[in-house]
Amino acid sequence: MYKILEKKEIAMRNIWYKVHAPHIAKKVKPGQFVIVRAFENGERIPLTPVMWDKEEGWIGLVVFTRGKTTLRINTELKEGDSFLNIAGPLGNPAPMEKFGKILAIGLYTGVVEVFPIAKAWQELGNEVHTLHVTFEPMVILKDELEKAVFKHTVETVSIDPNKSFPENMKNVTARAKEKVREMIENLKPDLVFMVGPVGDQKAIFEVVKEYNIPMEVDLHPIMVDGTGMCGACRVHINGEVKFACVDGPSFDAYTVNWDELIARSGYYRDLEMKAMQLYMEKLQAQGGAQ
Ligand SMILES: Cc1cc2nc3c(=O)[nH]c(=O)nc-3n(C[C@H](O)[C@H](O)[C@H](O)COP(=O)(O)OP(=O)(O)OC[C@H]3O[C@@H](n4cnc5c(N)ncnc54)[C@H](O)[C@@H]3O)c2cc1C
Ligand code: FES
Repeated sequence: MYKILEKKEIAMRNIWYKVHAPHIAKKVKPGQFVIVRAFENGERIPLTPVMWDKEEGWIGLVVFTRGKTTLRINTELKEGDSFLNIAGPLGNPAPMEKFGKILAIGLYTGVVEVFPIAKAWQELGNEVHTLHVTFEPMVILKDELEKAVFKHTVETVSIDPNKSFPENMKNVTARAKEKVREMIENLKPDLVFMVGPVGDQKAIFEVVKEYNIPMEVDLHPIMVDGTGMCGACRVHINGEVKFACVDGPSFDAYTVNWDELIARSGYYRDLEMKAMQLYMEKLQAQGGAQ
């Protein structure tokens, strides 16, 4: 059991958890993730330690309310409660080298994965420029990134209440593409790194490719065990099958089969929507979500 030492809403739909997990805090490196199971009858989901303290034995997680499991975690778990299982650290650490000038981009809660890697790259002597593109009420880790890297830029998009969420997301993609192009022209980075929804990763990659700059991406295929035993997280890299949980999650963007990854990520959409709908109905019957 992994006790929640602190829980707070740090932005709309973004909840911070400080969790007692000494064995993970002792070993975790930037780029690695954990698999969390919160409830007896719950599924396992991958999350990223955003910061940690080896001596005090805790890790910090940020959970974005996306579908049933993340909504259930953010609704039902309170400070003092515990996560049932946290397995990790998993995956490969990010490559810690001197690349030179780095543009590290996080879309939405993807900036959580950017934070520890960008901070470590800066500490190693790289000149790290971070860019966070998200909706206005969803800005997170701004102060922390401003302290950790050479320059942190936040680009926000307002939410149009007359449009659906997916329609609003298209504005974030458009703003991100524009800003990345501008920053590449100004900075001429030696490496671009990006974390965010897979469709946005592909869209940003198309921009970066025009400038022929090396690009790394942290991929988010569906994961189950997170230890290389099932292949749910398989991706084609340079035509070869790789498991993102053990071979990644970081890969060279030029080698990824993007269309296959996008198709596989939407494979359970109907079931996910059904699970969310049933959970929302249950919450409403109990007197409404928080
Ligand atoms: C390496 C890695 C690190 C991640 N780090 C974070 C993080 O720090 N904070 C955060 O909020 N989210 C993170 N995610 C994404 C998080 O795992 C999904 O948001 C979560 O699983 C959604 O579950 P759900 O039931 O709420 O939504 P669902 O309705 O089940 O799913 C919504 C979408 O989330 C994705 N997803 C669902 N289940 C999984 C799964 N088991 N594995 C991977 N993707 C899934 C799919 O693209 C799906 O279409 C990370 C994912 C990966 C692969
Ligand atoms: S999640 Fe099962 S092999 Fe990667």
